[in-house]
Amino acid sequence: MDNETKNTNLEHNFNLGQNDLRLLRVLRSSLDLALSKGQEQNTKMLSKLIQLGQQASSSLEVDTIIKTSLENILEIVDSKWCAIGLLDEETGKIVLRENIKQDGKSQFCSTEIPAEEDCVRKVMKNGSPLTITNIADSSLSCSLMSKCLGYLDCNDTGAIIPIKGRTKTLGILVTYYSSAMISNKINYLSIIANQIGLAIENAQLYESLQRQYVSVVNALAATLEAKDAYTKGHSLRVATWSRAVAKEMGLSDKQQEMIYVGGLLHDIGKVGVSERILLKGDKLTAEEKEAIQKHPLIGAKILEPGNLPEDIIKAVMYHHENYDGSGYPEGLTGEEIPVLARIINVVDAYDAMTSDRPYRSSYTQNWATEELDRNAGKQFDPTVIEAFKKLISRGELGFSL
Ligand SMILES: [Fe+2]
Repeated sequence: MDNETKNTNLEHNFNLGQNDLRLLRVLRSSLDLALSKGQEQNTKMLSKLIQLGQQASSSLEVDTIIKTSLENILEIVDSKWCAIGLLDEETGKIVLRENIKQDGKSQFCSTEIPAEEDCVRKVMKNGSPLTITNIADSSLSCSLMSKCLGYLDCNDTGAIIPIKGRTKTLGILVTYYSSAMISNKINYLSIIANQIGLAIENAQLYESLQRQYVSVVNALAATLEAKDAYTKGHSLRVATWSRAVAKEMGLSDKQQEMIYVGGLLHDIGKVGVSERILLKGDKLTAEEKEAIQKHPLIGAKILEPGNLPEDIIKAVMYHHENYDGSGYPEGLTGEEIPVLARIINVVDAYDAMTSDRPYRSSYTQNWATEELDRNAGKQFDPTVIEAFKKLISRGELGFSL
């Protein structure tokens, strides 16, 4: 049906006036335009950009934001390779954080790009995108290009887009194409880079708040050590050894990092326990025992407002749970106990046994290791003991038996 016939039918069926018809014609033209092929692509592109923005801003970890964004960029703008580098304010260099090809793999390992390189300097200084139409002929030196030449074609075109935060340029987004770079791709990439910039800035702010919080809590831990001389150095040893055990057990880098913080803070709740009980030389009464057994819960309460990762808070809260369910505060058993807490439980006990306490002298390292074995499957997770003993036998904990 042609437009003329459609209008006549509308006028006839609905008794519409000329103004109504004019309005309908404008609306229909807009709709036709929106549904035309080009417009459809733009609509799809916009929806992908919104999706990328949502994904990037939903994470508070810079590495996750970068990886997710690059995967999306490959798909959204159909590039052959893309990378993100961030400015290291101390060295003034751009550190390449991640780079991926169409198969999702990296082309090379992380590297530094001198900020004085022509192309990088221009983009960082001007804050506007730079298009390089022919990699081989380009007069702009770029070490990233030489690293990619084996994979990219000399005729490929590239773009370097500034990643901007609210007040400064945080780094660069680099992409390469086999086809000519068309201007609307640059516009899309600039929108993407802005979204990445805001998400990274939020994450960096969050990480810095967390660091500040951990340093305040560390100051609390130092206060605890000053309050209880017997725990001096204990938290640091538990943190360092627990991280080594986590690595030996094949836990991720992130978990290794979290157990280190959890180890430093595991007894922080003791700031809420009276010194009289902490330093008591004699056997504790049932009431005193109950008071001291509250320290994991007090610790978790102290840490909660800091928005630390839940794994750290759980490591603190459950580090006195026993493998057979005889521990506290909840009597969890086996794998119900978070793995970070199971590791701290073993390392904490070993360090306590080999240190002087108010009510006894230290045990020998051999005796303490045998005690771990005697309690494997009861108080302790046997797989954690196994990993801990391997580290001791290799002398990787700073001592050997
Ligand atoms: Fe404890």
